Amino acid sequence: MQIVMVGTGYVGLVSGACFSEFGTSVTCVDKDAAKIESLEQGRLPIYEPSLERLVAHNIAAGRLSFTTDLDKAMAGAEAVFIAVGTPSRRGDGHADLTYVYDAAREVAATMNGYTVVVTKSTVPVGTGCEVARIIGEARPDADFDVVSNPEFLREGSAIEDFMRPDRVIIGTESARAREVMRHIYRPLFLIETPILFTNLETAELTKYAANAFLATKITFINEIANLCDRVGGDVHDVARGIGLDRRIGRKFLHPGPGFGGSCFPKDTLALTQTAQQAGAPMRIVETVVEVNEQRKKNMAQQVIDGCGGSVVGKTIAVLGFTFKPNTDDLRNAPSLDIVPALQAAGAEIRGFDPVGMDEARTLLNDVTWCEDAYGAMDGADALVIVTEWNEFRALDIERVKRTLRQPVLIDLRNIYDPKEMTAAGFSYSCIGRARVTAESGS
Ligand SMILES: NC(=O)c1ccc[n+]([C@@H]2O[C@H](COP(=O)([O-])OP(=O)(O)OC[C@H]3O[C@@H](n4cnc5c(N)ncnc54)[C@H](O)[C@@H]3O)[C@@H](O)[C@H]2O)c1
Repeated sequence: MQIVMVGTGYVGLVSGACFSEFGTSVTCVDKDAAKIESLEQGRLPIYEPSLERLVAHNIAAGRLSFTTDLDKAMAGAEAVFIAVGTPSRRGDGHADLTYVYDAAREVAATMNGYTVVVTKSTVPVGTGCEVARIIGEARPDADFDVVSNPEFLREGSAIEDFMRPDRVIIGTESARAREVMRHIYRPLFLIETPILFTNLETAELTKYAANAFLATKITFINEIANLCDRVGGDVHDVARGIGLDRRIGRKFLHPGPGFGGSCFPKDTLALTQTAQQAGAPMRIVETVVEVNEQRKKNMAQQVIDGCGGSVVGKTIAVLGFTFKPNTDDLRNAPSLDIVPALQAAGAEIRGFDPVGMDEARTLLNDVTWCEDAYGAMDGADALVIVTEWNEFRALDIERVKRTLRQPVLIDLRNIYDPKEMTAAGFSYSCIGRARVTAESGS
């Protein structure tokens, strides 16, 4: 079995490496020649735990290769996956399908023999049909089927998610395409992964429904956290109290500065656009989008409050810029709202992130980038934790206190214990646990 991955980004590279680990011969294609060149030299363009080893292993085994030449890659391929970006379209929030449709045209021009064209990119319902139309129009002679196979991996645990997914969704009404997909996913059938066969539209919708539901859960607990702050509850206890109910579940009930990343913000927005257009508006998701955007903007005020009401002339140490730990991805990260707002309010920023600083440098101005967490704290009036990297969970609290000018900690990820921090002499603020902090101080 030989397959091609068009687009070698977070999803294409991880999927390509994992399929090759399953024993399939995979060629990853990208238009970005620098990306392909660095991969050929064994350098990964992204940070993802364990990916480097997996890629190296499969290159050495002769099952994984990289190229910019789609035509060459397509020779003998039984399936081609489209894993290109689907960002928000400027202005209206629809998914921008330019890259998907361009890829479809390029695939059409290079297809030979029966080919299964699989959209792995997250695409609005109806896109698969349009991909089929584009290919059919460009190549009336072509023998092909289009399948929707949305990807559910999470950056930071992408390999485990791909190798041991909760489920795989395969949308097609073609029995022939289903057989090819069954073959590609054979190792997952063997470990009894639930594999759901649906039609194209259902598969496309399932991906958006999943992301919108998870985003809603996060937003729900964030609003409960706001209420806890006002009326005196501990959001962690509330989350546990509801999460133990199996109908609700414990995952995605951790409060924070608002969801970011390359998927939830754009996918929730795109779903609301699809729903509006279809005449079945999704008011809940529309509200989630709005509440989350506002939340990211409000977070700077939370930091300012934690600093006593003003940051004019103050130096703030910010730890964590990526949208979550274990990735170098800063797309729609809360740090991108928080840092400029603090600067506008008069603060100087000293920053550190374990792997995201190269990207952060290109997106944020006037930040003093530091070698490590303690370097960022050196001479700062307050410390703000924006991303919960493991190394920030285990800071030497006495050293933090000695290094900061003032023992002020604003913990936007609730990774420290309010009572312990208050007992250690910190002015500590976090999310949805105000009473816990206040009581400890008294
Ligand atoms: N990142 C995630 O965690 C994640 C998870 C699940 C689903 N998805 C979805 O997967 C898709 C890809 O996301 P990503 O984060 O991997 O994007 P990405 O931006 O990291 O990668 C996309 C790649 O496609 C390449 N590309 C674009 N057009 C091309 C073409 N015609 N031929 C060859 N290469 C081309 C780009 O150069 C880029 O390297 C999106 O639809 C996204 O919503 C992403």
